[in-house]
Amino acid sequence: MNHHLKIDHADAINPDPIEILKQEHQRTLQGLATIERTLQYLDSLPSSTALKRCLVEQSRLRDWVNELSQRMLLHFLMEEEALFPVLAEYIGKEDGPIGVMLEEHLKIRSALLNWKRGVNVLCKLTGSARDRVLREVTSVGNQTIAQLRLHMSKEDQILFKICDASLSDEEKKQVTQKLQVIEKNVL
Ligand SMILES: [Fe+2]
Ligand SMILES: [Fe+2]
Repeated sequence: MNHHLKIDHADAINPDPIEILKQEHQRTLQGLATIERTLQYLDSLPSSTALKRCLVEQSRLRDWVNELSQRMLLHFLMEEEALFPVLAEYIGKEDGPIGVMLEEHLKIRSALLNWKRGVNVLCKLTGSARDRVLREVTSVGNQTIAQLRLHMSKEDQILFKICDASLSDEEKKQVTQKLQVIEKNVL
């Protein structure tokens, strides 16, 4: 049984930092679709029916949300420490797209933490307590998925296009090296 979302990083040889981050968005979007289907499945079944299947799906959900959360924290760190400082030299940091992305990172970090706590509790409960927590987990999960999709779309459509047009080849190369160092140190 596959309990991994496979949101792995792009190949280390890829020299374009924007492509690396965009590819990671694509893999994250695939992971979110998988999680969303599992949320819908769990939400559609009363806990008394297909109990065994529910338990399997719940434990998958827990693993996936934990993995997603870990991966997103790393992804945000990579953007914040490798890409944004270089881009800020061109467009500033506080007022503008970088400031907006940083605020969204904060909100999504907190949403992911909340969601992760919820799914971990869910797996320990049964009966009506479990059903109540499932409703919370579904609601928080759907909101977090929507936030993440919107955030990544803004980066793909706006921020990364500015990066692509602004950064020199040398700067891009430096950003890629920094992305790789951060990833290596964290994983
Ligand atoms: Fe981001
Ligand atoms: Fe991103």
